[in-house]
Amino acid sequence: MKWNCIASKGLIPLRIHVEKDYESLSELAASVVAYDIVQNPNIVLGMATGGTPIGMYKVWVNQVREGNLSFREATTFNLDEYLGLDATHPKSFRFFMQENLFKHIDININRTFFPIDDMNQPFFEYDSLIQQESGIDVQILGIGRNGHIGFNEPGEDFNRLTHVVELTESTRQANARFFSNSEEVPTHAITMGLASIMNAKKVVLLASGVDKSLAIYNSISGEVSPKYPASILQQHPNCTVILDEDAASLLPK
Ligand code: GLP
Repeated sequence: MKWNCIASKGLIPLRIHVEKDYESLSELAASVVAYDIVQNPNIVLGMATGGTPIGMYKVWVNQVREGNLSFREATTFNLDEYLGLDATHPKSFRFFMQENLFKHIDININRTFFPIDDMNQPFFEYDSLIQQESGIDVQILGIGRNGHIGFNEPGEDFNRLTHVVELTESTRQANARFFSNSEEVPTHAITMGLASIMNAKKVVLLASGVDKSLAIYNSISGEVSPKYPASILQQHPNCTVILDEDAASLLPK
């Protein structure tokens, strides 16, 4: 595989790959992670919701249908979940994962975890459970327009593990498209913290579209600062960033 660019503003290089459009970004992301799944069928994956990974999930569904990929032995931990919605709620992230991936593939649903317990309450021992499973091998991430990852909003402490957050108005507005109106978007969520994310052995960050270009520019080319939560990834020892041309449009050529 050839990488378009190695950015080394932090101590450790980020591998940045710029694809023409969302479709080719999704195909590349799917194959980067599928390679690891094939190498290690017992893989522990950190999963993300939002619009961005949907294309990658579709590629995996096709690969499973064609018999080229299997999640039979895999374990997944989702990044975050809204509070106040139960798991069967059509806007919960559990439901999202079920509809967009899990029900179409051969994964053991008992090996898919979310940071809420059976009573839909915050599950604060999430990081311990992840470590019991020997840690996340590959964490998939999208990014919010303000540079948030998971639900770690600007200003978040880099050292936090899984915790409850109050969602900012801008994140609630951005996610309102998944609800019938913005009032319905929950006010709180539980998210892996930035330290939980940094504990993953490998991170794959995806971003598509011009509305992500400033967040990508600030997070990748700027200083490592809580102002841009994703900028912490500049210090991750194994982080791959896959962008489409629109999301990369503000990066220096
Ligand atoms: C939400 C999720 C994030 C996701 C972000 C961007 O806030 N908690 O995990 O990365 O939205 O979503 P999208 O990919 O739809 O732009």
